[in-house]
Amino acid sequence: MTSSMSIASILTVLFCSFFHQLPSALAFAVHHRLSKSSALDQTTPITTLAAAVTQDSEVILETLKKKLDGKSVSPEEIISALDASDTLLSHLDQLENPYTNDQLHQAVVSLDIDAVDTMLASGLQMDEVTTNAAFWTVVQSINNAEENNLPLEANVTKMIHHVFEADHQHLLTRGKQTTNVTCMMPDDNIGIEGAARKMNYVFDDGDHKNLPLTEGRRCEGGHCCDKCSRNIFPTFATDAESNLETFPDLKSLTFNDLEKVPNETILQFVRLVERVRRTIAHEYGLPLRTILPLQAYSRKYVAGTTQKGGGGGEGDFVTLHTDEATHAGYHYSCVLYLSTQGIDFEGGNFVFNDPEEKMEVNREEANLEEYVDDIDDKLLEMLKNGELPEDDIVIGGYDDDTGIPLEEEIRRAGRKLTPFSPERGAAVIFSSGWENMHEVEKITSGVRYAVPCFFTTCPVPEAAYEQMVVGKPKTDEDIADDWLHLLLAHRNETPTESVGRVKELLMKWHFLCSPLSEH
Ligand SMILES: *[C@@H]1O[C@H](CO)[C@@H](O)[C@H](O)[C@H]1NC(C)=O
Ligand SMILES: *[C@@H]1O[C@H](CO)[C@@H](O)[C@H](O)[C@H]1NC(C)=O
Ligand SMILES: *[C@@H]1O[C@H](CO)[C@@H](O)[C@H](O)[C@H]1NC(C)=O
Repeated sequence: MTSSMSIASILTVLFCSFFHQLPSALAFAVHHRLSKSSALDQTTPITTLAAAVTQDSEVILETLKKKLDGKSVSPEEIISALDASDTLLSHLDQLENPYTNDQLHQAVVSLDIDAVDTMLASGLQMDEVTTNAAFWTVVQSINNAEENNLPLEANVTKMIHHVFEADHQHLLTRGKQTTNVTCMMPDDNIGIEGAARKMNYVFDDGDHKNLPLTEGRRCEGGHCCDKCSRNIFPTFATDAESNLETFPDLKSLTFNDLEKVPNETILQFVRLVERVRRTIAHEYGLPLRTILPLQAYSRKYVAGTTQKGGGGGEGDFVTLHTDEATHAGYHYSCVLYLSTQGIDFEGGNFVFNDPEEKMEVNREEANLEEYVDDIDDKLLEMLKNGELPEDDIVIGGYDDDTGIPLEEEIRRAGRKLTPFSPERGAAVIFSSGWENMHEVEKITSGVRYAVPCFFTTCPVPEAAYEQMVVGKPKTDEDIADDWLHLLLAHRNETPTESVGRVKELLMKWHFLCSPLSEH
């Protein structure tokens, strides 16, 4: 193997040497590479490499010349020519890939953005260690800027963009379970009655699950794709990223109140939300710029508390619903978990709730068949007669075999439940339509932290940008300014100010989170 490579390279060199120009050709190539990487400082080993290439070539050429002239060549000379051709190959290879991971890491921690750009453009990638180093370098730089009342440097936001891109690449290498589902939407034929049902869904999950549906994607005002699915990422965020000791404020963060939130927590939160956005773009084949967050916050679910209304607030369960029914602009959804079932809390499964696939045409019959094995004959008789058992029987009644409350039996009747047990760092990402009705089961003990976030594909009207005090960013410095004013908002705001800022933040999200070339 080695010797055949050597022979091949000797032949190449021999061929080139007919032009009697090899050393100068190599020197030219080396110079060419050097000039392309002028951003790097003079100590780069490329100059050393260039000298090594020349030296290798000279050894090989000398031996070849002797051989061609019919002179005798000693075994030692042949060996050193073979060795030289081996090292020549590896040196040429290094010229092709002139940078090392160490150099990239070094450039990252010194925020030398030109060098980082050059190295990434040469095909090098930031590994997880370097990406995290970039993150903390950025945090430090933000803290510095704030402390000294300086504007944020463009280097900083450019580096943030590299972190986002690297994060996405890393996620692609981690596990994922995808289930394709047929997109569903409410049947248009149901008119006012259907609209009324839609309004009521939060208070009556029975009605919501009986909503007449038809195949297709509603995606009102937006640009979704035809594909609908559920994706589970067991390691969407690493242990370090979801660590609530490092980022205590991740427990209850909203963009509306950032005054006291440490800079690193804001950045980590944006990093996770942006990772979701890029995952959605990738998963559903949509251009990144067409996806914007509409809502993202972290939420606390506490055993023994009641949910207040449909959204927000603490609570210990979430009733059956469809995200796109909650808000017509929600087109893609995610829940990212910051605590683990069985460690931090009990219960609290995330459950996809689908109609059971049935052979029977008669749905009522099928539902009753379902009960037969599990429910008391006496109760079944009452149900068949249309009598509802007395409240205390239902509430207190448990099935003898399974110990499952009767209420729960009814919830499950005719439905296929697909539960997911939350673990810290895991995420569920799915299309927000009626194909993905879901609920969160009661938490029986402990506290669960999670980050729900919802994305829209509805375009922002150009007029909205024109009305802003500062419109779309046009330079890297503009992007850095937007970060400082819209995100790193360490100031006391009136509710109106904060709402205005968050609205602008969400509309400008893509411009903040991606480089100018992708705007
Ligand atoms: C920003 O990047 C430029 C170009 O790479 C570099 O010369 C400069 O030192 C960097 N600035 C800081 C503050 O690191
Ligand atoms: C980061 O954010 C805080 C606000 O929580 C701000 O006061 C501070 O200047 C920033 N820098 C450091 C080093 O905390
Ligand atoms: C889901 O659908 C995509 C095409 O949209 C396909 O590439 C993929 O293999 C499907 N996955 C499964 C598990 O069927």
